[in-house]
Amino acid sequence: MKSVVITGSARGLGFCMAKLFREADYNVVISDLFEDKLVDAKNELEKIDSKGKVLYKVCNVTKSNDIGDLIDFSDENLGNIDIWINNAGVNQPDKAIWELSEKEIDLVLDVDLKGAIIGSKLIMEYMIKKKRGAIYNIEGYGSNDAMMLGLSIYGSSKRSITYFTQALAKESEERNTGVIVGRLSPGIMITDFITNALGNGEKIELPEKTKKVYNILGDYPEVVAEFLVNGMINNKKNNAHIEWLTTRKAAWRFMTAGFNKRDFFKEK
Ligand SMILES: NC(=O)c1ccc[n+]([C@@H]2O[C@H](COP(=O)([O-])OP(=O)(O)OC[C@H]3O[C@@H](n4cnc5c(N)ncnc54)[C@H](O)[C@@H]3O)[C@@H](O)[C@H]2O)c1
Repeated sequence: MKSVVITGSARGLGFCMAKLFREADYNVVISDLFEDKLVDAKNELEKIDSKGKVLYKVCNVTKSNDIGDLIDFSDENLGNIDIWINNAGVNQPDKAIWELSEKEIDLVLDVDLKGAIIGSKLIMEYMIKKKRGAIYNIEGYGSNDAMMLGLSIYGSSKRSITYFTQALAKESEERNTGVIVGRLSPGIMITDFITNALGNGEKIELPEKTKKVYNILGDYPEVVAEFLVNGMINNKKNNAHIEWLTTRKAAWRFMTAGFNKRDFFKEK
């Protein structure tokens, strides 16, 4: 039976991907910052009929020891890790670069960029020994060079993730490791991520202009996860780019926006 480990998976995209891997009979290891959130998520996942196991482990991706422990825990309990997804992420506050504190900048870079780099390094060492496996990193705003006030540090981290992941795929191929590396591009998803800047419970009110764009281009994470998980399960190629919101799809969404009125932000 195949196994998948997903960081930052107590909620949002990570949790939705965990559900779908479970439906596909994978063993699933979810991990995140807080045990109580993981217990709730595990209970939800256990409601899904599956031949696979579901396990959880606390892992703060800014701590390399935590990532190492997550790898050991998954290997000891499941015997192998077939797919590893560096999904954990934080958004940045909606401020210009010079208005951000050093602490706010550090957090975004430590989680979104360094967390994925160290995660990739450690799981690569593990998978090289096994001569197989797949590693996926998550792209985001900025990966395609887009720029917007209030997303510069996050965008810098995601632009770097794209370069880093392509470089890792190239090195894996040159060294003939047997490990494939790929990028997941989820577009825009309506998750806590976009309304809760740093994941600290503090809600941010999005500007009307931003809401308009999100209503046109955004999707619920369940929809995006289905596309991404199918892509990963079927992918055999190194350096794959599994992209939900392609330029063509985005253009179509804008063209048809007048007929497709969606409002993700309406008070329930
Ligand atoms: N929501 C979007 O529009 C969007 C778009 C493109 C890419 N992404 C990316 O998708 C991924 C998932 O985002 P989401 O929308 O599901 O966000 P989310 O906030 O719902 O989930 C992110 C998860 O990561 C966890 N996390 C935060 N810091 C962590 C740390 N140090 N260690 C471990 N876990 C940590 C959080 O607790 C949370 O459970 C992120 O990498 C994000 O950058 C999101």
